[in-house]
Amino acid sequence: MSTIEQAAAVDGDKLMQFVFRAVDEVGATLNTALVVMGDRLGLYRALAGAGPLSPADLAERTGTAERYVREWLNAQAAGGYVDYDPDSGRYALPPEQAVALTDPDSPAYLPGFFQIALGSVLDSPKIVEAAGSGAGLGWHQHVHDVHEGCERFFRPGYNANLTSGWLPALDGVVAKLERGARVADIGCGYGASTILMAQAYPNSAFVGSDYHAGSIETARSRAQEAGVTGRVSFETAPAAVYSGKDYDLVTMFDCLHDMGDPVGAARNVRRMLTPDGTWMIVEPHAGDRVEENLNPVGRAYYAFSTLLCTPASLSQDVGLALGAQAGEARIRDVVTAGGFTRFRRVAETPFNLVFEARP
Ligand SMILES: C[S@@+](CC[C@H](N)C(=O)[O-])C[C@H]1O[C@@H](n2cnc3c(N)ncnc32)[C@H](O)[C@@H]1O
Repeated sequence: MSTIEQAAAVDGDKLMQFVFRAVDEVGATLNTALVVMGDRLGLYRALAGAGPLSPADLAERTGTAERYVREWLNAQAAGGYVDYDPDSGRYALPPEQAVALTDPDSPAYLPGFFQIALGSVLDSPKIVEAAGSGAGLGWHQHVHDVHEGCERFFRPGYNANLTSGWLPALDGVVAKLERGARVADIGCGYGASTILMAQAYPNSAFVGSDYHAGSIETARSRAQEAGVTGRVSFETAPAAVYSGKDYDLVTMFDCLHDMGDPVGAARNVRRMLTPDGTWMIVEPHAGDRVEENLNPVGRAYYAFSTLLCTPASLSQDVGLALGAQAGEARIRDVVTAGGFTRFRRVAETPFNLVFEARP
């Protein structure tokens, strides 16, 4: 028995339970890389709907090496991602996993979640260093998997909720969008939300902006691919100094808490809006108190917040560092400090809170 065990009257059973839980967690951590591998090599797509396959079948269909594929399949089977039949030595992807791992149109689509997690882990040595000094790390300083994974993670939720639930929950906004409104989507990243709104409301004009020039470049090519360039434009600009005005609607999707100066951004949105305009703020789902967020969603978001959101805010002027689990009360404070008089929660999903702010 170690000195710490003696001194703290450690319960041996509880200690072993924790050790075995850690085995599960290390397996899950490594599986993040394996999911990205399966996504990138087309392994899940080849398994989807194919029925039981041997490792050699799967390797042949994907142009990969059988020995790697066999090991990957065994890890997937141990984690419950694929089914294994010992009699035939074949592996099959259950239909639910096929949807979650291969259908980008499903709200349950997961590869982006794993991709942004892998990117965050890859960049974690920079965060370890920053935590020593208190320095920040900007969104633009991350690996590509963080940027692309972010868009792939959030887009299915926007597809499922934005035009069917979130925009209709705002007072009078859909009618304006249908007639023809001016919309600014701030912190738009790759522009998934901007393009989705432009597709749904062809009479309206949309400007997406983000301080990260690389994301804006991708957003422009995404708009071209989607055939909406006439109604959508993109600009590289930080939220607090974006210079447009007379907007009917300003949107921010999962980015207010990433900003160094969210109050400055709120003031600027207030200036940008028409007197009757609306600011829609989509933020990660969170309670106001830490103890309300001690659940699996809160755990993932606090981890992303440590590795991405908090350092992003600390890297900018002011560095308020709201964190990804800021909660409604703190968002209300920011919005009110920015000069808005009306604020309410209009919608929520297990992953997001949606707020409406009016001048
Ligand atoms: C978590 S990502 C969300 C991106 C996008 N809205 C989406 O939903 O996919 C946060 C975004 O906020 C942007 N951002 C951070 N600080 C910003 C600022 N001060 N002004 C404008 N954009 C900012 C980042 O570049 C990044 O694209």
